[in-house]
Amino acid sequence: MVASAYTTSAKVLICGADGQIGHALAELLLQQQGLECIALGRRKLDVTDPEQIRQQLERHLPDYVINCAGFNRVDDAERQPDQALAVNSAGAANLAAACALLSIPLLHLSSDYVFDGHYASGYSEDDAASPLGVFGRSKWEGEESVRSLHSQHLILRVSWVFSARGDNYLLRTLEQARHEAMIEAVDDRRGCPTSAEDVARVILAILRQLTCGIDVWGTYHYCGAEITSRYGFSEAILAAARQYEELAVQELRAVASADYPAAAQRPASSVLKCRKLLSTFGIRQRPWRSELQRVIREHYGEL
Ligand SMILES: NC(=O)c1ccc[n+]([C@@H]2O[C@H](COP(=O)([O-])OP(=O)(O)OC[C@H]3O[C@@H](n4cnc5c(N)ncnc54)[C@H](OP(=O)(O)O)[C@@H]3O)[C@@H](O)[C@H]2O)c1
Repeated sequence: MVASAYTTSAKVLICGADGQIGHALAELLLQQQGLECIALGRRKLDVTDPEQIRQQLERHLPDYVINCAGFNRVDDAERQPDQALAVNSAGAANLAAACALLSIPLLHLSSDYVFDGHYASGYSEDDAASPLGVFGRSKWEGEESVRSLHSQHLILRVSWVFSARGDNYLLRTLEQARHEAMIEAVDDRRGCPTSAEDVARVILAILRQLTCGIDVWGTYHYCGAEITSRYGFSEAILAAARQYEELAVQELRAVASADYPAAAQRPASSVLKCRKLLSTFGIRQRPWRSELQRVIREHYGEL
């Protein structure tokens, strides 16, 4: 009998396991044969604490570390830059240094916010980074540390993540729609919504190939298929939710970003080109609309 790659055993340690992507990934990995998953939330592994990182890595000796930890409150990052930089920049550097010392490959999550958003058609991996604010800068510095400290790294930039848990645009829109007759959504920011479970699927597919010993370190992009605006995403969210619930909202009004003041400036285009992931790993983009239906079913307790 030919041994399948799927029977290769590997131990995967997830940091930030209580967040949207960390949780979805832990759930998925725990169902896989041949993969052992150690899922650690902030209390057990704080990425700002190098000593705790060292202890946890030496204790579990994983084959791979996946960094899903992050300070992701974009407006708060402008007000609390030290905290954002401590987690997203220094935290990533701490993990990369510790993983390099033990020769453990590191898969690190990053964001479309490393770009300024001026390319409406989207960004590929080798486009120049030019973050607009503290959050984007913290993610870019984190990436640069990972690249310089550890050759066995894979950086996966994702965008517009939604799920049935945590703090995200989908849940905030639903909350507003339940209580307000009119809600606004910006129609001049473009991007591709991406479910946390879809990101987990992509990470699993990458891991399966890494366990075969292929050498594909570097930076990759992933997002759901189909470009939309925040307005278009809100429309789809409300339509999906109305299958389950009568909402208070009567009007969804399209507004310009300029009319929607926030502490942090956001990229006008968050579109990520995902061709490199397809050509290297054979991983295709999944349509976000079908993921939205699934997440809405989960939200209403039907899964
Ligand atoms: N959400 C998006 O739209 C989006 C878009 C692009 C990229 N990403 C990236 O994808 C990754 C995961 O995002 P997500 O949406 O899953 O984020 P999330 O839901 O905010 O989860 C992040 C997790 O990291 C934890 N954390 C914060 N500080 C930590 C620390 N010092 N040590 C260890 N854990 C810490 C948080 O714990 P607490 O809750 O206790 O703070 C939280 O459980 C991040 O790198 C993020 O930048 C996200």
